[in-house]
Amino acid sequence: MKLTLAAGKLLSQKTDALIVGIYRGKLTKSAEAVDKASKNALSALIKEGDATGCLGTVGILPNFPGIAAKRLVVVGLGKEEDGVLNFQKALSSALKAVYFVKTAVISCTDWFDLSPEWIAEQVSCTAIDVLEKSVDYKSNPDRPAWKQPKSVSLFVEEKTPELTTAFAEGAVIGKGIKLAKELGDAPANLCTPKYMAEQCMKLGSSLKFDVTVFEEKALNKLKMGCFLGVAAGSKQPAYMIVMEYNGGQKKESPVALVGKGLTFDAGGISLKPAKGMDEMKYDMSGAASIVAAMATAASLKLPINIVGVIGCTENLPSGSAVKPGDILCSYSGKTVEVLNTDAEGRLVLCDLLSYTIDKFKPILVVDAATLTGACVVALGHEYTGLFSNNEELALELLQAGENSLDKCWRLPLGRAYTKALKSRFADLANIGAPGAGACTAAAFLQEFVGKTPWAHLDIAGTAWSSGEEKGSTGRPVPLLISFLKDLTQ
Ligand code: BES
Ligand code: MN
Ligand code: ZN
Repeated sequence: MKLTLAAGKLLSQKTDALIVGIYRGKLTKSAEAVDKASKNALSALIKEGDATGCLGTVGILPNFPGIAAKRLVVVGLGKEEDGVLNFQKALSSALKAVYFVKTAVISCTDWFDLSPEWIAEQVSCTAIDVLEKSVDYKSNPDRPAWKQPKSVSLFVEEKTPELTTAFAEGAVIGKGIKLAKELGDAPANLCTPKYMAEQCMKLGSSLKFDVTVFEEKALNKLKMGCFLGVAAGSKQPAYMIVMEYNGGQKKESPVALVGKGLTFDAGGISLKPAKGMDEMKYDMSGAASIVAAMATAASLKLPINIVGVIGCTENLPSGSAVKPGDILCSYSGKTVEVLNTDAEGRLVLCDLLSYTIDKFKPILVVDAATLTGACVVALGHEYTGLFSNNEELALELLQAGENSLDKCWRLPLGRAYTKALKSRFADLANIGAPGAGACTAAAFLQEFVGKTPWAHLDIAGTAWSSGEEKGSTGRPVPLLISFLKDLTQ
């Protein structure tokens, strides 16, 4: 799919589909122009109720008078005062609706009161995300030949360098989101820890970042007892994968990104219930988002150093699996009593976090993990849970979430939660006293980061959707990229 900027006259755009937006009870500038040229044919349709402006509704109007385009596509933007909240929904509805045409031109820089550069980035990103075919494993596909436009153009008054850059970057981010989604949606029998390592190596060699794969033997040498404890129940070998992208100065300390990569989480001996267990193939979404963020940062050639570290394994019950009551010794030397084998994410992450800080002395660490069902209870599917030991870092992430529409909400850390992790026999227990499950999980991680500025993203509710539209969302890739880009400014 070709993505371009189109300047010139809106009405004379020669295309299969010209997309314009209408608010409830109000036309946008482009819609007004079309209305005038068509001798009020558009307002007549609105009057009749054929077009309402309700958010996300799409009307396809062939042979519309007054325009050179083959059809007019009118998308509802909802109420003008809703602003950016409605933008993404309207944009993806409009783009999804034109999957069958060869060429489309969208005029949306006049939607709401948003900067044209921000809009340009959103358009190319969303076009890739919704129009490029996502992988499935059907031998008899729903749609015989996947249709997608050959080209999608954003109509702009003038092609400025800023718009061109933003539009190009949006496409790169769109590809990153797509990558995270594909890894997430891949079933656990295909997407094994080894598969994750192979994907990282491929990406590293094509996008020019270094990849080091640590096998279990190496993890043993590093004394990553907690990570290995989780891996003990699986026949698939576990891997820690370290990705290093150096876009900054040689001596500059890196930013570290750490991801939970459970390619399947059955719970281990503390087995999960059967219902919905298939969704635990998504338990590597944190790792997938880190891989995608590395690939995207490298493609964008961001002028910073980034190290991405992911821990990939399965959590399965077996004769060799870790058992409740077992005590593991972490990389940091702290001992952990495993009271519930299903609280495995923190066991993987604690070793990754202290290793990353030890080895790379990063200026800051952000981890992403589908860590707790409790976070889903607290925040649902809208907001990612954010925890941080550093005010500035927390604010930066909150802002990046707002800017990228991939939002997070800060939740508390504190002594009360740390205390809840007391163990009778070891330094720490891997589960807290009942209540505040997302907070006690984060407090557990905090024990392994020392004074390094650190933020933890609990993406259990945001990394994938259930139900009819089941699938990976690619979150928090937009958030991470927005955050990394801000760091370079
Ligand atoms: N991967 C799960 C968290 C999860 C659950 C994500 C549901 C998305 C949806 C994690 O490993 C887990 O099992 N956590 C337990 C922790 C508990 C045993 C303290 C949980 O949330 O139930
Ligand atoms: Mn679990
Ligand atoms: Zn898990």
